[in-house]
Amino acid sequence: MTIVDQEQDVTQLQNMEMELLLEAIYRHYGYDFRNYSPPFLKRRILNRMAAEKQRTVSGLQEKVLHNRLVMERLFKDFSINVTEMFRDPSFFESLRENVIPIVRDYPAIRIWHVGCGSGEEVYSMAILLHEAGLLEKTRIYATDINQVNLEKAKQGSFPLEKMKLYTTNYIQSGGERAFSEYYSVKNDGACFSPFLKKNMVFFQHNLVTDQSFNEFHIIICRNVMIYFNKTLQNHVHQLLYESLFNSGFLGLGNREEIRFTNYAEHYEVLHSAEKLYRKNK
Ligand SMILES: C[S@@+](CC[C@H](N)C(=O)[O-])C[C@H]1O[C@@H](n2cnc3c(N)ncnc32)[C@H](O)[C@@H]1O
Repeated sequence: MTIVDQEQDVTQLQNMEMELLLEAIYRHYGYDFRNYSPPFLKRRILNRMAAEKQRTVSGLQEKVLHNRLVMERLFKDFSINVTEMFRDPSFFESLRENVIPIVRDYPAIRIWHVGCGSGEEVYSMAILLHEAGLLEKTRIYATDINQVNLEKAKQGSFPLEKMKLYTTNYIQSGGERAFSEYYSVKNDGACFSPFLKKNMVFFQHNLVTDQSFNEFHIIICRNVMIYFNKTLQNHVHQLLYESLFNSGFLGLGNREEIRFTNYAEHYEVLHSAEKLYRKNK
């Protein structure tokens, strides 16, 4: 056997161990990560294996199954929460220009933030709606698989040192007020004003296993499906499609696509660079 053959053998064995680990997590804890993107999973699993001082993925599996704290740490590794307020400001600018003028006349507006993380995106939306005079008639549903993220989101308090970046993002998104009007400073945190939270609800929802729970005029699902394989992306697109009213709006992250899914033909492209779509049938 050559060295190359031996390396291939080790990789194949490791891939099999990873499949077994994901199956075991699903059967024991009910979390289904089996259709997350393999390169994403591999990086996270190998890092966790090293952090738990395990030589093999099978060693990690034993720890995960018999120690809930190890499972919690791996769960946290799988739930990446990189986010910002007014992240990709041009996306929010496009919402102001292309979506707000249309929904302005609706008697009530329902929005779903899917995979909302710790809520920065949700508070950004509330500020945008407030400035458009639409916050009062809007209900914002914000969901995530990770309960720890949701608790942070409910607090609406973000690190003070991030406010410089968030102010720049806000201005670039077309915001014209003083961003500091929206928060007060408490213990190194920027606490966002309670009026922004009034029509928000946060709750746990898993895109893999949970169903559609309402119909929405706008769905924002950004930087969530990048972690999923094609099968799971299609599954999520079905869920989003079923949860949108006809003529509803869908916003994706800039590395996410509706092309190549089974749902592409059901949407018209409103702004291709910003991944903003409108359901047409
Ligand atoms: C990178 S954050 C994106 C946050 C925000 N949407 C943004 O673009 O800034 C990805 C979020 O997706 C959530 N997530 C991952 N898998 C999920 C699932 N199966 N169901 C619901 N949320 C999930 C993670 O917990 C994390 O909070």
